[in-house]
Amino acid sequence: MTFKDKHIVLGITGSIAAYKAASLARLFVKEGAEVQIIMTPAGKEFITPVTLSALTGKPVVSEFFGANDGTWHSHVDLGLWADFMIIAPATASTLGKMANGIADNMLVTTYMSMKAPVFIAPAMDLDMFAHPSTTRNISLLQSYGNHIIEPASGELASHLIGKGRMEEPEKIAEYIREFFENQETLSKKKVLVTAGPTYEKIDPVRFIGNYSSGKMGFSLAEECAARGAEVILISGPVSLRTIHPNIRRIDVESAEQMYEAAIYEFPDTDAAILCAAVADYRPVTQSDQKIKRSDDKDLTIELTPNKDIAAALGRIKKENQMLIGFALETNDEEQNALKKIQKKNLDYIVLNSLNDAGAGFRYDTNKIAIIDKNGNRKDFELKDKKVVARDIIDETLGKRDKL
Ligand code: PMT
Repeated sequence: MTFKDKHIVLGITGSIAAYKAASLARLFVKEGAEVQIIMTPAGKEFITPVTLSALTGKPVVSEFFGANDGTWHSHVDLGLWADFMIIAPATASTLGKMANGIADNMLVTTYMSMKAPVFIAPAMDLDMFAHPSTTRNISLLQSYGNHIIEPASGELASHLIGKGRMEEPEKIAEYIREFFENQETLSKKKVLVTAGPTYEKIDPVRFIGNYSSGKMGFSLAEECAARGAEVILISGPVSLRTIHPNIRRIDVESAEQMYEAAIYEFPDTDAAILCAAVADYRPVTQSDQKIKRSDDKDLTIELTPNKDIAAALGRIKKENQMLIGFALETNDEEQNALKKIQKKNLDYIVLNSLNDAGAGFRYDTNKIAIIDKNGNRKDFELKDKKVVARDIIDETLGKRDKL
């Protein structure tokens, strides 16, 4: 991928690393991109707008209004114009403003209006980078879906040695290139996703179900579709809407219906991600009429196991198909997840534990570990489920050589 014809907003803040932003701007322009630079007032203390506008062939934007003629610089228009925004260098102060919506300069307002992916390359002293407020702000920014390009370790402007150096322009460009290449990796691929709970009918008014909201599975479906895949989303009863036009949704209620749909659709797909919380049991009999309450008699419901959808797909999986399951655990998490990989013939399992605050059912966030069929494990921080979906795809079918 090249930056030819890309519209890029490059944000520059007040750090000594601002001089490197000139090389970054030049690199983009050389490849044929149109670059609009936005500087914070402090950024201008480190590198002059004249240098930067000479490199990009465009006036640098810094204030809300042009000093000479009062022209309004529209952060909204820039948010719509850009193919991506990169803030390099991003100081601790700007990270804090972005994380907390303090829109008191042109750069932060543009960031908040941005419709395109945002990349952030922090630069600061090692102690500032290690400060809990910076860590928290970076986590918040990641949870909003922004991409952090980690600073490198080495000698800093203070002559101290540690982590905080803004990544080199070539590496920043490479990171962004890889992001966009990964975005296209699922074009012409077909992915099956299961999501939500299943309802196992007891009588016309009651069922056995669980707390799944569908948020995790729907985020996965949207992420796959955004990367170009044709997605079949088999969903249990949830109150969510799908957004991307490449998602074909099949609504089901019971585990049996989900099983039938999955078995029918799977052979024609490249991969399946089984995120649904499928009821393991259903009542042996379902009453056609509402079961009446009795004060003096216990009610016993006999249950029978449902079919294991993941295991069934694992049995018919072809060599060129990938199967990704989930494990929702409360104890012996890794051990149980490893057993499920074997039993269901999975390529990967995404482990989430109800022992982690903010993880699992209903939350907007999740905390996962991804384990492959060889037992290799990668752990992730608590993040918004949309970002978790991105991590899952990056680590599994999104890799260029994987699918
Ligand atoms: O929907 P949210 O509120 O966002 O919550 C997300 C989630 C917690 C539901 C999700 O992250 C998750 O963990 N989904 C799997 C829940 C689950 O049923 O886990 P399990 O460990 O019981 O099942 C293991 C795997 O087998 C899962 O991939 C499951 O889809 C599959 N399975 C289970 C039973 C069955 N009969 N058929 C199956 O295919």
